[in-house]
Amino acid sequence: MQIKSPKYIYDFFNGVIQGENVKHYKKLYKEIDFIYKTRDNQLSPDTVMYEVYSFNEGGSNILLWGLTVIYPITINGECNMTRGHFHEDREEPEIYFGCSGEGLLLYLDSQGKIFAEKVFKGSLHYIHGNYAHRLVNTGDDTLRVGACWREAAGHDYKSIDEKPFPNRVYKKDGKIDIA
Ligand code: PA5
Ligand code: NI
Repeated sequence: MQIKSPKYIYDFFNGVIQGENVKHYKKLYKEIDFIYKTRDNQLSPDTVMYEVYSFNEGGSNILLWGLTVIYPITINGECNMTRGHFHEDREEPEIYFGCSGEGLLLYLDSQGKIFAEKVFKGSLHYIHGNYAHRLVNTGDDTLRVGACWREAAGHDYKSIDEKPFPNRVYKKDGKIDIA
């Protein structure tokens, strides 16, 4: 029997996935400045707000793995966060798991009902297909969150642009404030 090295290396501490077929993108402030309540003119438009790694085994009916790395930046007091999305297929769930840092995972249903779970190293989150999901970095360090979902899920950002998450997360004097 041949023993092979794993195809992918998941580095929880440095926040990268390495291997063949790994996709990686950086989300810059200028690409998502509209998601925050206010603009911060002190923040360079090219600031990297978060990075996403994912890998795709290929074939049909596949599972994707990903890692999201969210930097501890505040925008006039508002905590940095992902854009947030529903899945195009509202039947498709996703699993998130905290790798490092501290944050909140916001869940929003199509009726506008919202709740959140704390995210930390070792936390595991089952996101049912009917919930939009957004990660917020509430800590002083980088937040790293792993994810697993089916490619068939797709990303629907339009619904969130049209009907945004009703709450925002701020940090004032080290304390979290949800407004
Ligand atoms: O598939 C997911 O839910 C994640 O990989 C997200 O795409 C990632 O966290 C980035 O968030 P968003 O796609 O909302 O910008
Ligand atoms: Ni998703």
